[in-house]
Amino acid sequence: MTPELPTERIELEDNLVLRTATPEDAEEVAAFNSVVMTEPPDYEPEPEIGDWTRDLFDGVNRRVGPNDFTVVEDTKTGKIVSTIVYISQVWNIGGIDTPMGMPEIVGTHPDYRRRGLVRKQFEVMHEWGKERGHLFNTVMGIPYYYKQFGYEYALDAWGGRATARTALSGVLAKKDSTPPLTARNASREDVTFIAETELNSRRRLFVTAARDSKIFESELFGRRDASMVFYRTRILEQNGVPVGYYEYGTTTKRDKIDVNALEINAAVNWLDATSSMLVDLKSLADAIETADGGKCEKIEFGFGSEHPAFKLFDSQFGSEKKPYAWFVRVPDIAALVSHISSVIEARLAASDLHGWSGDLKISFYRSGLEMNFDAGKLTAVKNTGPIERDEAQAHYPDLTFTKALFGQYSFTQLRDMLNDCFTHKPAHQALQDILWGGQQASGVLPTN
Ligand SMILES: CC(C)(COP(=O)(O)OP(=O)(O)OC[C@H]1O[C@@H](n2cnc3c(N)ncnc32)[C@H](O)[C@@H]1OP(=O)(O)O)[C@@H](O)C(=O)NCCC(=O)NCCS
Repeated sequence: MTPELPTERIELEDNLVLRTATPEDAEEVAAFNSVVMTEPPDYEPEPEIGDWTRDLFDGVNRRVGPNDFTVVEDTKTGKIVSTIVYISQVWNIGGIDTPMGMPEIVGTHPDYRRRGLVRKQFEVMHEWGKERGHLFNTVMGIPYYYKQFGYEYALDAWGGRATARTALSGVLAKKDSTPPLTARNASREDVTFIAETELNSRRRLFVTAARDSKIFESELFGRRDASMVFYRTRILEQNGVPVGYYEYGTTTKRDKIDVNALEINAAVNWLDATSSMLVDLKSLADAIETADGGKCEKIEFGFGSEHPAFKLFDSQFGSEKKPYAWFVRVPDIAALVSHISSVIEARLAASDLHGWSGDLKISFYRSGLEMNFDAGKLTAVKNTGPIERDEAQAHYPDLTFTKALFGQYSFTQLRDMLNDCFTHKPAHQALQDILWGGQQASGVLPTN
């Protein structure tokens, strides 16, 4: 929560006022959010979004409070007609903690849509991001829409596998054998272990959300059970000692289990952990009764398509679940590049071009980036205006550079997809793939 921030109050047309929310708005915003996302034909309310909103107003996430919500109020009726919350957090990029912010739970009442109310609130939130030193923003949102506010898809999200409860069987070699690890619900005493173990994911994932044990504690034990972002955690143990954990959530109808994380420490291997998780998950799924009295048949693993577990079992993990993607906005490219300069320098040092010195100009057509290297060190980086075609060593159209920066695609992949993404010389192509690291797996479970 950032109480020191000035309270916004912006008069808009038609008796509308955009303002920061107060604690008194909590119930109205929660009720609004429970229905604003609903879609035809059923227009079923989503109480889990209402509970998520209540938790955020209550400060369950210590970085968010009522004044991180914007609301647009129709002063004629006194009703809230549009709202968003700005969730400040820290994401880790290649080992470097990076402050960022995520607008979430975005909605406008159907009678007030397409009048620029979300656009206005995004402008306010981007200003907050600047004041808070946020180096980028992300949104998990409806297709295309956020491109209108300077965002580009740049990080794969929620990819993995989708399977059925019945397919989870047959994990263990012998019919009657027990899994190598036992499983139990996490308790408050486990949060330090979970936070430490989670750090191991950084070895295989380029971008993750940074979580300390306090964040884990509030996520595991501070939230309303029915919140959309309430996850349960199971601890995997070897001879009574925690060696791994997995995290899962269920839908309100309890007709699907989403597994969001599986991490282990050095005491155990992935085969033992994965088989034990699958056995435990099967018993959990068997025990769940759906809202309409049936069985919970769907299981999804959304922690990234490259997870080691997927290499160890095939039929149990069902079929591929294609990723969606995070929208990412980088308001100041030079500032973010400079922030992760040690990652860039390490890539260069480990490459065929180690120790390279030179000036590099990258064109985004309507703007550009200039970087200066001296003996492998990034000595300067700055944003520029347009760069003449012959002067730039690499070209990325519009915001597509963000995809390379966040490792969604390598420069070479982008060049193969986009006619206006290119270098003049092979060495420049090689340099782009080195500096931005090529395609890298990421798996972000935001701290929302
Ligand atoms: C999507 C939604 C949030 C848009 O709210 P809004 O207040 O109408 O948005 P704005 O008017 O500020 O939209 C900004 C621009 O996007 C356009 N736009 C609005 N809805 C759009 C949509 N669904 N797809 C593409 N563009 C859209 C607007 O016309 C406007 O264009 P302009 O600035 O060039 O005039 C609203 O339709 C809604 O609440 N939908 C249901 C809930 C939902 O899907 N929320 C998003 C979850 S990620």
